[in-house]
Amino acid sequence: MEINRPTPTGKEIKLGSTQMLVSKTNAKGDIVYSNECFINVSGYSKLELMGSPHSILRHPDMPRVVFYLMWKEIRRGNNIIAVVKNLSKSGDHYWVTTDFEIKKTRDGKVRNYMAFRQVAPRNVVKIIEPLYAKMLEIEEKDGMDGSADYFENFLKEKGVNYNEFIQDLASPKGITQAFFKKMKELFPA
Ligand SMILES: Cc1cc2nc3c(=O)[nH]c(=O)nc-3n(C[C@H](O)[C@H](O)[C@H](O)COP(=O)(O)O)c2cc1C
Repeated sequence: MEINRPTPTGKEIKLGSTQMLVSKTNAKGDIVYSNECFINVSGYSKLELMGSPHSILRHPDMPRVVFYLMWKEIRRGNNIIAVVKNLSKSGDHYWVTTDFEIKKTRDGKVRNYMAFRQVAPRNVVKIIEPLYAKMLEIEEKDGMDGSADYFENFLKEKGVNYNEFIQDLASPKGITQAFFKKMKELFPA
């Protein structure tokens, strides 16, 4: 279904700490399942979401390199926790941390990607928002290689990889992890 990209309003949708936003795609990345909460927050109908690519949620404030790195990892079958600012149909936005699960066929081909999202902790958004803004600025000037270098150096200075960086920020760490674990139990592929 063809969807017009909404204009961002700058207004934030504040997610509750128990909200679980779950979606599933086929190997191409088209949405094949969305849970009730994901549908409600997105503002789209189930029909509008089905078969659409996840980029339907893409917020223009998100640097491209974040998705590039994310796809690179999940295509290899690795999980990555990504902090993402998403755009709803109304143009309002919401911040989530997303954990993935990669479902493969018996012969090892990707069958589905699952995304499990929960509200991004405030302290994470406070650090990530200006970082992404800087990366986007670099990307607009020097392309994705520029923002990838900046991000890599940023993490190198901290001596962590992206997953460690997010997990270190999310406080208390165990709660974020436990909530993702719960979601995966509740929404098996
Ligand atoms: C399982 C899964 C979940 C995704 N969830 C989101 C999401 O919540 N928001 C988003 O902007 N992109 C999400 N993506 C990434 C999109 O596929 C896409 O790469 C991204 O929106 C950038 O779009 P673009 O390449 O058209 O610029 C997800 C991808 C997968 C495989």
